[in-house]
Amino acid sequence: MQKVAIVGAGRVGETTAQILAEQEVCQEVTLIDVREDAPQGVALDIAQAAPFFNFDTRISGSNNPAAMANADIVVITAGVARKPGMSRSDVLDVNIQVIDSIVEDVMRYAPDAIIIMVTNPVDVLTYRAWKKTGWPRERVIGQAGVLDASRMAAFIAMETGFSALDITTIVLGGHGDSMVPIPRFCTVNGVPIAQFIAPERIEQIVQRTRDGGAEILALRKNSSAYDAPGASVAAMVDAISRGRNRLLPCVAILEGEYGLQDIAMGVPCVLSHVGLARIIDLDLNKAEMDAFNQSADGVRTDIKKLP
Ligand code: 2OP
Repeated sequence: MQKVAIVGAGRVGETTAQILAEQEVCQEVTLIDVREDAPQGVALDIAQAAPFFNFDTRISGSNNPAAMANADIVVITAGVARKPGMSRSDVLDVNIQVIDSIVEDVMRYAPDAIIIMVTNPVDVLTYRAWKKTGWPRERVIGQAGVLDASRMAAFIAMETGFSALDITTIVLGGHGDSMVPIPRFCTVNGVPIAQFIAPERIEQIVQRTRDGGAEILALRKNSSAYDAPGASVAAMVDAISRGRNRLLPCVAILEGEYGLQDIAMGVPCVLSHVGLARIIDLDLNKAEMDAFNQSADGVRTDIKKLP
């Protein structure tokens, strides 16, 4: 992979850029932001860490959207973050305008790119970007489930004392209060978590996962989470860039999977060099499917608000 453009040089954009550079996932990272001098400053700061991390990734910042030209992937993180007490849907009105204009820039300057939407509410804005571009769903996906699953894995590691490296989790649905962690598919190196954690504690972990973003926002007060979100985006870029065929929960446009269509939702996706290579249609039980459908209702409600 040659080039990744990141629109929005805020904390999530910066963390993503830093990880991509340090891991040499691509040859070039460009940060784009409307705030004068901000992306240039971020890029310079990351570039100056190169000797410590031994990377040669070229990193630049620009206020001009034309800087995304020839990007293979455009990550969109720009927009307003929610404040404590707000839901992700509360920022839809403001962020829709921001996203519309960025998507127009992507269509103009990077018409062959893969879009990874990060801005919230991510399900609705991924749907918006897909509709607006008219691109195949392979090239318009969103980041949510990788983060939600890593939060759940962290909570299971804290609860059991096992290494987070050995814990696999899966979280589906919309990236909101109704997201659907699936404990049945969560394991410690293949051993179901029910072997180690009592049902009522699992239910608490499920709820803490749903509240994961809000918990950090309430603690940090003046910032949403950005370390784990940036790492999650970088993991998706890496999977695409290196054509890894990783199975990761991502926001994708559904075309009949899970009985739904014309909606963007968190589902297990296979990411390869084409972007979204395929969606895995899991055999959910009734309770899981009911929760998934309830989450879909919430996403649909927001999609209906789109102008
Ligand atoms: C989070 O969950 C901001 O949606 C992001 O932290």
